[in-house]
Amino acid sequence: MASKENKTERLRAIRDEVWNLANSPLYKYRIENKYYPVLGEGSHDAKIMFIGEAPGEKEALSGRPFCGAAGKMLDTLLESIGLLRADVYITNIVKDRPPGNRDPFPEEIALYAPFLDRQIEIIRPRIIATLGRYSMQYLFPHLDLASALKPISALHGASFEGKTSYGSVTLIPLYHPAVALYNGSMRETLKEDFKVIQKTLSSH
Ligand code: URA
Repeated sequence: MASKENKTERLRAIRDEVWNLANSPLYKYRIENKYYPVLGEGSHDAKIMFIGEAPGEKEALSGRPFCGAAGKMLDTLLESIGLLRADVYITNIVKDRPPGNRDPFPEEIALYAPFLDRQIEIIRPRIIATLGRYSMQYLFPHLDLASALKPISALHGASFEGKTSYGSVTLIPLYHPAVALYNGSMRETLKEDFKVIQKTLSSH
């Protein structure tokens, strides 16, 4: 098993590469706005990894994932199943903020996804929870589950066994916590779906 130092070094190498990713269409916007790339945060030995979409403004200004309103919602959902941020690893598929929080373009996802792949390989989570449809649409085929992919409304809160180079991983697609900010019934749906994580964690 990889040592802690080794994992940290390998994650740092990813950070340095993304930091210098001048060929990204989002690089100039980052520099002009004095933004940071957002790599991820949490335990390098986390059993569960949460993967969102892309940093918003608060995240890009601080370099930390999910530190705005959607992040507060994520914290509440984690708390509801007895987890702290320090217990999990949180990242995004796209590591730089798209202008005005627009949806990421396919070419941006294609450019940043290999960094996510490497983060998964280093952290080796047993459970991956996708937050929103972008990370879900990427992870299903990536974990050899292409044939199971459907709209998020049909898949949220279900669990799937995916394949990685280090063994099987449970993939749990979830709605993005931002959808729960102004919609009480979505909040309840997300709360129910988080219980699936709790159940899965206790069986691993
Ligand atoms: N939304 C995301 O998808 N990721 C963040 O880090 C913040 C908001």
